Amino acid sequence: MMAADRTVHGVPPSLSAKVVGSFAYLTVRDRMPTILTRVIDTIHRNKNKFFEEYGEEGIQAEKQTISLLSKMRNELLTDKPLLELTDSLQDTESWNQYLQRQQKQQGDQDSVSWFKSPWLYVECYMYRRVQEALWLNPPISDYDVFNEGKTQSFFESQQAMMTLCTYVEGLNKNMEGLSKNQLLEHFNKLLQVSLWGNKCDLSISAGQDNSQKTSPIDSLDSLQPFILVNDSNRVWSALISPQRPGQSKETALVRVDIVLDNSGFELFTDLVLADFLVSSRLAHEIHFHGKSFPWFVSDVTANDFQWTIRQTTAANHKWMSKSGVQWMSHLKDGAWSYHDHPFWTQPHEFCDMEADAPDLYATLQGADLVLFKGDLNYRKLTGDREWDHTASFHTALRGFGPAPLCSLRTLKANVQVGLQPGQGERLGSQDPEWMTSGKYAVVQFDNAKSEQKD
Ligand code: F6P
Ligand code: MG
Repeated sequence: MMAADRTVHGVPPSLSAKVVGSFAYLTVRDRMPTILTRVIDTIHRNKNKFFEEYGEEGIQAEKQTISLLSKMRNELLTDKPLLELTDSLQDTESWNQYLQRQQKQQGDQDSVSWFKSPWLYVECYMYRRVQEALWLNPPISDYDVFNEGKTQSFFESQQAMMTLCTYVEGLNKNMEGLSKNQLLEHFNKLLQVSLWGNKCDLSISAGQDNSQKTSPIDSLDSLQPFILVNDSNRVWSALISPQRPGQSKETALVRVDIVLDNSGFELFTDLVLADFLVSSRLAHEIHFHGKSFPWFVSDVTANDFQWTIRQTTAANHKWMSKSGVQWMSHLKDGAWSYHDHPFWTQPHEFCDMEADAPDLYATLQGADLVLFKGDLNYRKLTGDREWDHTASFHTALRGFGPAPLCSLRTLKANVQVGLQPGQGERLGSQDPEWMTSGKYAVVQFDNAKSEQKD
């Protein structure tokens, strides 16, 4: 047995498609090739557009990109070794170094390959190879193969967005008169709306419609029993307690960072939460962190972020467009800012961030609270490892803690920590798919600096 396959110094092995029949295995065998087929189909369907924009060169690029993607799909299906990247971008070297690192960890007997290596790594690698195929074909390098799905999911959730903005309008009208308890109540609601917004990603459904159709506020009560761990009181405390040298409690400047996940309804809920934090003066500054290229089908890029705010502003609904205008002004006056960093589109566990992306780690240290949205961020927080369900969140973070942090995640992969003894077993017997269906969620908080460990 190799080191990568067993628990070493209390750190369990990575989830991998090596375990036949596991969720990782089914993802690599079925869902990932399906996503690649859809990508190929999207590029092919846009052939005429490429021709109109770039003439014959566009057609050549379309053909070559498809040929590279088909080749990769075949490598995946036949469990071939992962290949070094051949484009020369900012992150190419670091991806290739990571491959060597994996090979070292795995030992020399077997090559690092799609079914034999950590699932987190190979899944991230697939999205980076999609980009490589595009980047090697310059006229269409910037084409976002997932854009159609992302915009469609935005439009399909419009009714829920309108409902949410109507709620926000009512809230804003009375904001000044709210007691602390009322503020807490609204905070909890909007935190949960943002939590459940994470149900709507397009990766788990391999690109199929997964938009929000029901009223997000009205559903909260019935969803409550599905929140397996709810540390929202600790999140609230982190928000209201920051006090830096020279600041009183009343004037403390609070910065919240939101590490975004999906476009569409989820991003919308994150923006609503961020707007509430600023309007209520719980925070004075929000830093959003997104991806620098299209990622895991529906993740937010700078383009999606700007587009969503523009669309909201242009909506044919009074309160929705008012929200959009408000969001624009947060961006203009600097209360909101959007950031990206290559680390978010790399395969590393977050416990490696301090060593492998010290600049990003230092940036996050400036926050009073960091909200990590979604399943993939949870997998990276916990290293996507075979932890016991009763292992604490703090243990699974393995020292990662640039600032007080909270994961807002619906469960879509089989890693879950921080449960009570017996809770995982009970859930498993009631609902065998509890870890992957997106039906359950967690709000899990950790503050590495606090005395009290989880
Ligand atoms: O396999 C399902 C999956 O693609 C996971 O890899 C990933 O964790 C998840 O879906 C994406 O979910 P989210 O958008 O919440 O990160
Ligand atoms: Mg996602």
